Amino acid sequence: MRVRDYSPGDLAACLAVFESNVPEFFHPAEREGFAAFLAALPGPYVVVEDETGALVACGGYAVAPGTATADLCWGMVSRPYHHSGLGRLLLDARLGRIAAHPGLRDVALRTSQLTRGFYERRGFVTEQVLPNGIAPGLDRCDMRLRLPLRNPLIPSGAIPA
Ligand SMILES: CC(C)(COP(=O)(O)OP(=O)(O)OC[C@H]1O[C@@H](n2cnc3c(N)ncnc32)[C@H](O)[C@@H]1OP(=O)(O)O)[C@@H](O)C(=O)NCCC(=O)NCCS
Repeated sequence: MRVRDYSPGDLAACLAVFESNVPEFFHPAEREGFAAFLAALPGPYVVVEDETGALVACGGYAVAPGTATADLCWGMVSRPYHHSGLGRLLLDARLGRIAAHPGLRDVALRTSQLTRGFYERRGFVTEQVLPNGIAPGLDRCDMRLRLPLRNPLIPSGAIPA
């Protein structure tokens, strides 16, 4: 597996990763927002390629000017590859980069009840749940991870001294 920065040529492959998670994890109406996000990235976005060069996961983050919070955005693994460690790889890649930013206080995330448990395993705390807040049947879960990273599950290379 290889993690590298997103480039515009990855657009179709990222949209295919999104589609593979519809309708279980994403509502079809979210596709437009994801495409618009990719067209004007607000921050770093990375992709994961398998041994054949196929794009199997993608995700990024953004730090709004004047804030000390990194927001994780549009993190996803191609549906057939769920539960094979890629989600962890993708999250570690993003947290590693975030850890290199000076002055950040926390990492925020909006996800659904379906993936909330994945992030809780990595130390994120659920602060608020809005039933059907993403779409009917998909609750919006607002989560936060305090920095600096102290979670022993995160590789030491990703933790600032
Ligand atoms: C959330 C997501 C990225 C997890 O990816 P994944 O590749 O399946 O996760 P991994 O295989 O790396 O799992 C890591 C650990 O988390 C656990 N885990 C995975 N998905 C989980 C879930 N939905 N709830 C609870 N635990 C979960 C795994 O069992 C594994 O546990 P272990 O450390 O004991 O082995 C994936 O489900 C996904 O892409 N979902 C669709 C997109 C989405 O909803 N993104 C939300 C943010 S926009």
